[in-house]
Amino acid sequence: MKILVTGGCGYQGSILVPKLLSGGHEVIVVDKMWFNNYLKKNKKLKIIKDDIRNFNLGKIKRVETIIHLAAVANDPMADLSEKHSWEISTIGTMNLIEQAVKYKVKNFIFASSSSVYGLKNEKKVHEDLKLEPISTYNKAKMITERLLLSYKNKINLTIIRPATVCGYSPRMRLDVSVNMLTYQALTNREITVFGGTQVRPNIHIDDLTDLYLFILEKKIKGIYNAGFENISILNIAKKISKKIDCKIKILKKNIDIRSYRVDSSKLLKTGFKPKKKVEDAIEELNYLYKNKRLINNKSFFSINWLKNNKKKFLS
Ligand SMILES: NC(=O)c1ccc[n+]([C@@H]2O[C@H](COP(=O)([O-])OP(=O)(O)OC[C@H]3O[C@@H](n4cnc5c(N)ncnc54)[C@H](O)[C@@H]3O)[C@@H](O)[C@H]2O)c1
Repeated sequence: MKILVTGGCGYQGSILVPKLLSGGHEVIVVDKMWFNNYLKKNKKLKIIKDDIRNFNLGKIKRVETIIHLAAVANDPMADLSEKHSWEISTIGTMNLIEQAVKYKVKNFIFASSSSVYGLKNEKKVHEDLKLEPISTYNKAKMITERLLLSYKNKINLTIIRPATVCGYSPRMRLDVSVNMLTYQALTNREITVFGGTQVRPNIHIDDLTDLYLFILEKKIKGIYNAGFENISILNIAKKISKKIDCKIKILKKNIDIRSYRVDSSKLLKTGFKPKKKVEDAIEELNYLYKNKRLINNKSFFSINWLKNNKKKFLS
């Protein structure tokens, strides 16, 4: 199958694209390469450096599936330029879905976010609950979902609401909770937690990238949460401290109040089975760091990287 992956040079894309290629698919990546490109050359892979807001799908023949990952990919990054976050999310997605329908693409898979629910008291945050997003990033994801849903009769549409992703990727992200705290433990022997009682759902990058393949294989449509471990930030820190010798420092300032837990029963009912846990991500990062394969690269700290390159990327 010929698959277009937007944002394919990013954290998830750098794991997903090789898996798609191994599965025998032909892959076209469209990415602005904000964080460089770590995808290895492959005769079935074409990488196009372009912006999804202007991308012309007519240039590529017979794309069967679009996996849409490109975005300003978390709350603090989106806050650096709300205009860009909105534009890339909504105008970029509108451009893609319009062309997808025009050129008869069969399947469209969108990486939304489990943060679209906002703060919820319900023990089980399932797909039918009201969306009450609180940040620009979450609001842009919600509006983009609604935009896509208006095309659901014209294309096979799957919306995934992933939890915070953890684990290693060649394009590493050290701004997401498990990865960030593990890296702090490895490099400073101290983890700083702001508040700590906030509960966040997690998913291992191997499970999330397997899920995109599972959706293709099983032809799954609709909206699905994808998060399997709801853990407080303090408990993530404790899990890390059991595997890596470090102290935990709890600060009561600059607390990010977002706290949410997701229920992925609907996804589990499709037969999808996650294989990894947060502990696996911690162990893998520990191993790779010790073997000098998890290196210090400024672009892995996505927020500071975008902030320091704001003129280049967000203007
Ligand atoms: N990582 C997580 O914890 C997480 C959780 C839930 C949802 N998501 C969503 O999953 C998707 C992928 O996230 P990621 O972690 O791989 O992020 P990432 O920042 O590593 O990758 C995003 C990629 O999109 C590209 N991009 C940005 N704007 C673009 C544009 N206008 N045109 C073309 N390319 C553009 C960037 O260059 C980057 O390579 C995002 O939509 C994100 O919101 C991520």
